[in-house]
Amino acid sequence: MKVLVVGSGGRCHAIVEALSRSSQVDKIFCAPGNAGIAALAECVAIKETQVETLRDFAIENGVELTVVGPEVALEAGIADCFKESNLRIFGPTKKAAQIECSKQFAKDLMLKYEVPTAAYKTFTDFDEALAYVKAGELPTVLKYDGLAAGKGVVIAESMEQAEEALRDMLLDEKFGKGKVVIEEYLEGPEFSLLCFVNGHDVYPMPVAQDHKRAYNGDKGPNTGGMGAYTELPFITDEDIDYAMNNIMRRTADAMVEEDASFCGVLYGGLMKTKNGIKVIEFNARFGDPETEVILPRLKSDMCQVFCDVADGKTPVIEWDDQATLGVVLASKGYPGSYEKGYTIEGIEEIDGSVYHMGTALKDGKYVTAGGRVMIVVCKAASLKEAQAKANAEIEKIKCDNLFYRTDIGDKAFKY
Ligand code: AMP
Ligand code: GLY
Repeated sequence: MKVLVVGSGGRCHAIVEALSRSSQVDKIFCAPGNAGIAALAECVAIKETQVETLRDFAIENGVELTVVGPEVALEAGIADCFKESNLRIFGPTKKAAQIECSKQFAKDLMLKYEVPTAAYKTFTDFDEALAYVKAGELPTVLKYDGLAAGKGVVIAESMEQAEEALRDMLLDEKFGKGKVVIEEYLEGPEFSLLCFVNGHDVYPMPVAQDHKRAYNGDKGPNTGGMGAYTELPFITDEDIDYAMNNIMRRTADAMVEEDASFCGVLYGGLMKTKNGIKVIEFNARFGDPETEVILPRLKSDMCQVFCDVADGKTPVIEWDDQATLGVVLASKGYPGSYEKGYTIEGIEEIDGSVYHMGTALKDGKYVTAGGRVMIVVCKAASLKEAQAKANAEIEKIKCDNLFYRTDIGDKAFKY
């Protein structure tokens, strides 16, 4: 079978690698892909948002399955476009992707179907929003309603901070014209529950935890994710049952009810608060870097899973019982400005998986080409061992302009 993976980051590298382990797959295309992916797939220079060009490519090349990585492609309507041409695609329609792309859609759906989440109110008017914040408690959470590349959420500890954020979002329209969702501040460990979904059918993956802050101890600015691991000692089987029944299945059912039936990966960004598990956000796709620690544990045929879920059949999905832990190497300065083009050595020496996030090939050598550059993932019988192994292996990577966290996974033992 010929398959096409749309996207370019570490998540797509992990998807491509999982597909490459399938005996059914004889050719993988990746658009646009990256230098690491190029070792496993033919990279095609088409952007994720050029959905019609991607559709034409799929038709011309006899692609039988397309898997979508990033939300920008979903919001551009890639699934709608492929479905109109009767092409099999793993990813939700534009309407269903609103669960990620519109905070208000997600919040309204959760309220209507009693999916547990933080209390909230939506505003378009600056003065009304400010009055609401002033009447409430701090900290408070302000979310721009739309895709803002991870920068649309502000946790305001002071009134000045809240006012500044509201000014940015509603008066200065920094992310474009839009609304703001103001919500109750929740506390507790966060975790990600990703599920394969088609309509009412929901199949969970192992839970994972991301690390969004740039530096050790959860200090520094928010990033696209600095590391992740699977096997969360603080999440019990009961917690997972609760989250599956009251959050993931209920939401999938609600989407069908709302005529926005979901097909793809529904990502629950959840928090275990003292008042129960609640939704922080939904995503309409695989998480990054969660995917890089989840998919290496898949024992089943990745291609068959995608096809079965997309076709509405019951997939066979088995996971090994190992723990995984991944540490991201990022360019110094990230998530602010950074330089590119530094040579990276030692990748072949890693005893584990290396997924490329932002690299390029120059004179036969890998060089840095993005903010997050790569992730080193190790697997072991226990989380402690996976952590020790990843922290040791990552030292083999030699590059003058990279940094990484040395405490990925520490939180697991502290909650
Ligand atoms: P989001 O883009 O909605 O995932 O928000 C980004 C991050 O902000 C989350 O991963 C949380 O750490 C934090 N956050 C979002 N909403 C809340 C909330 N209601 N209470 C506390 N923290 C939150
Ligand atoms: N790991 C967070 C995300 O993929 O949005």
